[in-house]
Amino acid sequence: MLIIFYLFSLAICIDDPIHTSIIYGDSDQGYYYVNLFVGEHKQKQSLILDTASSITTFPCVDCKSCGNHIDSYYNFKISQTHKVVKCDQIIGEKQCDKCLNNRCSFQISYAEGSRLAGYFMQDWLIMGDEFEDLKQSDEIVKLEQILSVIGCTTLETNLFYTQKANGIMGLSPKTNTEFSFPNYIDDLYQKEKGSEFQKMFTICIGRRDGYMTVGQYDFNRHRNDSLYYKVKYDQDTDVYKINVHSIKIDNIVIADHNLINLGQGAFIDSGSTLAYGSPKLSEKLTQQFLCQNENCPDLQYLEELHCYQYIPEKHGNFSNFASYFPIFEFELDNNFTFKWKPINYLTLAVNTTDIYCFPLAVIPGAPRMILGQVWMRNWDIGFNKQTQEVLFVENNCSNTKVSHEFTEEDIILLEQQSLKQNNGRRVYKDLNLKGKLDIFSETLYAFVMIVLMIFLYYLFFYLLKLKKQGKYQTIQEINSQE
Ligand SMILES: *[C@@H]1O[C@H](CO)[C@@H](O)[C@H](O)[C@H]1NC(C)=O
Ligand SMILES: *[C@@H]1O[C@H](CO)[C@@H](O)[C@H](O)[C@H]1NC(C)=O
Ligand SMILES: *[C@@H]1O[C@H](CO)[C@@H](O)[C@H](O)[C@H]1NC(C)=O
Ligand SMILES: *[C@@H]1O[C@H](CO)[C@@H](O)[C@H](O)[C@H]1NC(C)=O
Repeated sequence: MLIIFYLFSLAICIDDPIHTSIIYGDSDQGYYYVNLFVGEHKQKQSLILDTASSITTFPCVDCKSCGNHIDSYYNFKISQTHKVVKCDQIIGEKQCDKCLNNRCSFQISYAEGSRLAGYFMQDWLIMGDEFEDLKQSDEIVKLEQILSVIGCTTLETNLFYTQKANGIMGLSPKTNTEFSFPNYIDDLYQKEKGSEFQKMFTICIGRRDGYMTVGQYDFNRHRNDSLYYKVKYDQDTDVYKINVHSIKIDNIVIADHNLINLGQGAFIDSGSTLAYGSPKLSEKLTQQFLCQNENCPDLQYLEELHCYQYIPEKHGNFSNFASYFPIFEFELDNNFTFKWKPINYLTLAVNTTDIYCFPLAVIPGAPRMILGQVWMRNWDIGFNKQTQEVLFVENNCSNTKVSHEFTEEDIILLEQQSLKQNNGRRVYKDLNLKGKLDIFSETLYAFVMIVLMIFLYYLFFYLLKLKKQGKYQTIQEINSQE
C-alpha cells in the first residue's frame, strides 16, 4: 500500500515551531522568499528559496553594482563576528577553489540568465520568525545562532538587480559536498546532531505566501488525519530528482516513464515559477487540459499557455471553476500518487486578473522536467538530506496560523481586484555544473594559452640556437636548468 507512515505528531509533538519562518511571495511575483538574520544586530536579509542551486548570497555594503531591495545591504563592518573566507580554506567537504584579491570568490550563472559574483564570508546566522524581535544578546539567540558560510554579492545582473528580494538561499543537495560549502541547514544539523533534529527543511507554499521549517516538519500545522508519503531522490545529481513513473488522468496513462525521463529526468525546483517539460511532454499534458462543463469559457492562448477566463457570475466560486479541469496524477515511487489539482495548478496569465492557465511551458535547452512552484503549491514538502528522501503531506500552506490566514477564495478575490506589478516567470538553476567552465576559468584558460604560446615560440628559437652550437638537449633538461 501507499501509506508510509501515519501521523505521529502526538509522539513528536513540537509546540515550539522554533525554526519556522513565514515564506512571502506568490507566483505572479515569480518567486518566494524567507528572512534570514545575519551577524551582529541580526541584520534581516530576504532570500529567494531555491532548491536547485547551492550558494546563499546577498549584497554586502561594499557592492558597487547591486539594485534596490527590501532590506539594507548586509553591513559586515558593524558585525565584528564576520570572517572573510580565505583562498586556501576548507569548510566541510569543500576547499575554496577560486581566489580573487586574497578572498575566496564565486561567480554563478543561473538558467534564467542572471549572474551573481562575490566572495565568501562566515558570520552568525539565525532563521525563524520568533527570533525577529529578539536581541542578539538574548540567551535564546546566542544558543540558536550558528556560524555559517554566506556569499557577499558584489555584482548582480538582470532579475537579481531589479527584484525586491535581496538574495538567494541555495538549498540543493550539492551543499556540503566537495562542490559547495555547507549551508545554514547543514551547519545547524552538525550542531543539533543526536536530537530529533533532522538534516531537513520543508517548504510549504500556497497561492500566496507559506512557511518553511528547518529540522523537522512543523506537525502542528498539519491536520490530525494527514497522510505522509516519502520517496527517494537520486543521489547522483545535484538537484532533487525524483522518479516519476507516469502521469495519469482518471487512472489512464497520458505520459509514460520514457517520455518523462528524457534527458535529465524530473526534479523539484522551488526557484522556478512554472513547471517545464520537453516539447513532446508539454504537448501531451497540455492537450489534456480540457474544460469540462456546460459553462466552460473559450480556450485562449497567452504566452504559449492554454488558458480560460474565470467569470464568477457564471462559474460560481473558484473551487467550483477549478472543478471543470482534470487532476494530473503523478505516479511516484512506493505507490505514491501525487495529485496535481486544478485548484492549485491554475495560474494567472501575466498582466491579467482573471485568466487562468495550465502552467506547463516548454523547456529551452536540454530535455528535463522541472517541477516548479506551481507544482509544489499546498503540499508541505520535506527535503531530508540525511535519508535522501523527499516527503509529502497535503496542507493548506497559505493558512499558516501565525501571521495570516488566507483561504483560497480570499486570494482569488485579491487577484481579481488588484493588478499587481508583475516580475515575470523565472527559473533559477545553478549552471555552474560539474566540469563546466565559467567565465572566470575561461579567461584564465585563454591567458594560460597565450603565455604557453609565447613560451613555445621562444623555446623554438632557443632550441634552434642550441642545435647550431651542437648542444642539443631534451626539453626537460632545459627546464630543469632554468
Ligand atoms: C463553492 O461553491 C459550491 C457550490 O457552487 C459550494 O458547495 C462550496 O461550499 C463553495 N466553496 C467555498 C469555499 O465557498
Ligand atoms: C504497489 O501496489 C501494488 C499493487 O497495488 C503491489 O503489488 C506492490 O507491492 C506495491 N508496491 C509497494 C512498494 O508498496
Ligand atoms: C505586462 O505589463 C508590463 C507593463 O505594462 C509590460 O512591460 C509587459 O510587457 C507586459 N507583459 C506581458 C507578457 O504582456
Ligand atoms: C484546506 O482547507 C479547506 C477549507 O478551506 C479544507 O476543506 C481542506 O480539507 C483543507 N485541506 C487540508 C489538506 O488541510
